[in-house]
Amino acid sequence: MNEFIEKNLGVMMVLIVFLVGFGGAVEIIPLMSQKVVTEPIEGLKPLTPLQLEGRDIYIREGCHVCHSQMIRPLRAEVERYGHYTVAGELVYNHPFLWGSKRTGPDLARVGGLYSDDWHRAHLLDPRSVVPESNMPAFPWLFEAELDLETVPLKLRALRIVGVPYTDEDIANATQGLEDKTEVDALLAYLQQLGTILKERR
Ligand code: HEC
Repeated sequence: MNEFIEKNLGVMMVLIVFLVGFGGAVEIIPLMSQKVVTEPIEGLKPLTPLQLEGRDIYIREGCHVCHSQMIRPLRAEVERYGHYTVAGELVYNHPFLWGSKRTGPDLARVGGLYSDDWHRAHLLDPRSVVPESNMPAFPWLFEAELDLETVPLKLRALRIVGVPYTDEDIANATQGLEDKTEVDALLAYLQQLGTILKERR
């Protein structure tokens, strides 16, 4: 039997596809029906428009290329970063920013860890607060203003994929954002990261 399969590539390919498909289905399909992965945890709110702009800047600048946002349920990780990441705190994240490359530390629970002043100094010149840092500086964020035209459209798009923004949220999306710079938005985003599950280092 073994020899027959190994000598008939077509048969082997069909069997491999079946086996991998079956294995994948067994892992994925039960997850889809489990509330623990599809329902938001208690108290979870969608990002405010300012935080959402910050998240887009985070993606644009490639912060996620050096920083993961996923604390694994391993002792070393939990001791360093705080409560491990749970699916229910990320149901409004589109797209996810989990990542696995950690040139810098994981940022899943960085919210509230440093003051706004620290972050500003760090983003303007990382070496001024962490002398051995090899993180790049992001000085342009301090001058650039937000592109307000797209903000309501972003909320609307996210609502289509299940983020519960109300009509009122969308109508008032740009309120109070007129004099904000990109760094204000990025900070608003960073300072809420992971704060829904408070326990941390
Ligand atoms: C080239 C890789 C790289 C990129 C890109 C990068 N960082 Fe970093 N980051 C690091 C490294 C390395 C550290 C650790 C040294 C330090 O604190 O500066 C760090 C540290 C941090 C910390 C402190 C985390 C902690 O727990 O102490 C924050 C916050 C941070 N980065 C935010 C950002 C943001 C926001 C961006 C995008 C605007 C960004 N980083 C882009 C490499 C990077």
